[in-house]
Amino acid sequence: MNAILRADGDGDGVPEARFEPMTALWLDAVMAIEATAYPHPWTRGNFSDSLRAGYQAQVLVAHDTPLGYFVAMKGVDEVHLLNITVAPERQSQGWGRLMLDALATWSRGQGAQWLWLEVRVSNERAQRLYERYGYRRMGQRKAYYPAAHGRREDAIVMSLPLAPTP
Ligand SMILES: CC(C)(COP(=O)(O)OP(=O)(O)OC[C@H]1O[C@@H](n2cnc3c(N)ncnc32)[C@H](O)[C@@H]1OP(=O)(O)O)[C@@H](O)C(=O)NCCC(=O)NCCS
Repeated sequence: MNAILRADGDGDGVPEARFEPMTALWLDAVMAIEATAYPHPWTRGNFSDSLRAGYQAQVLVAHDTPLGYFVAMKGVDEVHLLNITVAPERQSQGWGRLMLDALATWSRGQGAQWLWLEVRVSNERAQRLYERYGYRRMGQRKAYYPAAHGRREDAIVMSLPLAPTP
């Protein structure tokens, strides 16, 4: 994943970016984004466990500044997207879609036939992005996520069939 990437084509104010493998050296910057992007962020331990487990974890970087990142786990014939995040000040510039592209390309290269993910029922923005990308709702997991005041929130399960690389 070494290509120079541009999210919106016209380039006005949108920097070029590249993917770098997420290593422990990135975790301070990743945690800073995570804390601002979610009311219930992943812990540092969630990220370091993912790295230790060998999950696919990439940071999207422009001028040495991370714009976003994703973490995905390979199963038998599917890949499960565990975390995809764009820094709040960089959202709505096409980087989320670009990371979904990178994820689909990598997953096809791994021989996966499906991508799967969960998303909070309240996270309509992310659901819209996934649906526009071609993900479909497959079901709902009750009380999957922590929520405010000790409550829990349901997850929508979504999946994308991956056509094999021609
Ligand atoms: C969900 C998330 C990853 C999407 O990333 P993003 O980079 O903002 O997504 P994109 O820019 O690719 O697309 C999102 C929107 O921007 C629009 N967009 C894309 N390129 C654009 C551009 N150049 N200019 C303006 N808008 C653009 C898209 O059409 C889309 O429109 P919508 O808001 O009506 O859905 C990001 O919002 C995020 O990190 N949110 C917080 C964490 C989160 O919820 N993660 C998902 C957990 S399941």
